[in-house]
Amino acid sequence: MTDLVTVTDDGPVRTVRMNRPEKKNALTMAMYDAMAAGIEGTEQSQTIRCLLIAGAPTVFCAGNDIGDFLMAASQGGALGAPILRYLYGLARCELPLVAAVQGNAVGVGTTMLMHCDHVIASSEARFSTPFVSLGLVPEAASSLIAPRLLGHAHAFSLLVMGRPLNAEEAKTAGLVNTVVPPKLVEAEAMKAAQAIAALPPQAVLASRRLMRGQPDEIVSRIDEEAEQFKTRLQSAEAQAAFAAFMTRKR
Ligand code: COA
Repeated sequence: MTDLVTVTDDGPVRTVRMNRPEKKNALTMAMYDAMAAGIEGTEQSQTIRCLLIAGAPTVFCAGNDIGDFLMAASQGGALGAPILRYLYGLARCELPLVAAVQGNAVGVGTTMLMHCDHVIASSEARFSTPFVSLGLVPEAASSLIAPRLLGHAHAFSLLVMGRPLNAEEAKTAGLVNTVVPPKLVEAEAMKAAQAIAALPPQAVLASRRLMRGQPDEIVSRIDEEAEQFKTRLQSAEAQAAFAAFMTRKR
């Protein structure tokens, strides 16, 4: 069986790659666990100095697996422990996070980027968070981070109205640093990660900590959103939206 998440180290850069392209990198519980394991504890490493989150050449991530959402709803609606483990891992991560985005970044595919320090996107990338049209609420502390990052009106348009951003719009909004042609995304992201990794590591960590502050506020927002999510997952609105996706005609 193919590894649905691969973790590879290139000198001081660790790449955590989503690798389920046939399902557009929709994330399963096992994938969240594997991604969390790839980033947890890396600040203790003597060798790893920067983390790179990547997807496939055609898609970054189609969000949470909607089949898993349906199953979660039938079992009481709680966000699975692996999801929270990954989100806490992002929030508490001490090492710089770089992302390489190609194709669609949907739902958590977009909100995980709000935890990253440097994002390289393909000119074809597209960012969307259709939480509300799925009867859900935003997650990954995006309800806190997005208004700060984008301003309330742009955050509302993205998170509540579900209006997508193209790569240039995401750059203007402050979600993306650099937009490059699709073929250059991986190389540019690795170059940026290696450049960060080559800086004096303790100074990077201390600066990043100063800039981000304590993660507690982010973690408690993740929990608050998870509470709402639980109710929403079981709602008739969400059930109808998931069923419509699973049975859609193409
Ligand atoms: N959960 C479960 N399966 C998903 C999925 C998801 N989030 N996203 C894609 N897939 C599956 C499709 O069901 C399809 O499976 P199949 O080949 O067995 O039928 C396969 O991945 C390919 O998806 P498809 O929709 O045919 O690809 P596309 O290129 O036409 O569209 C997307 C890509 C990402 C725009 C589209 O798949 C999509 O909108 N996905 C749902 C995104 C979403 O709402 N996520 C939840 C956010 S909270």
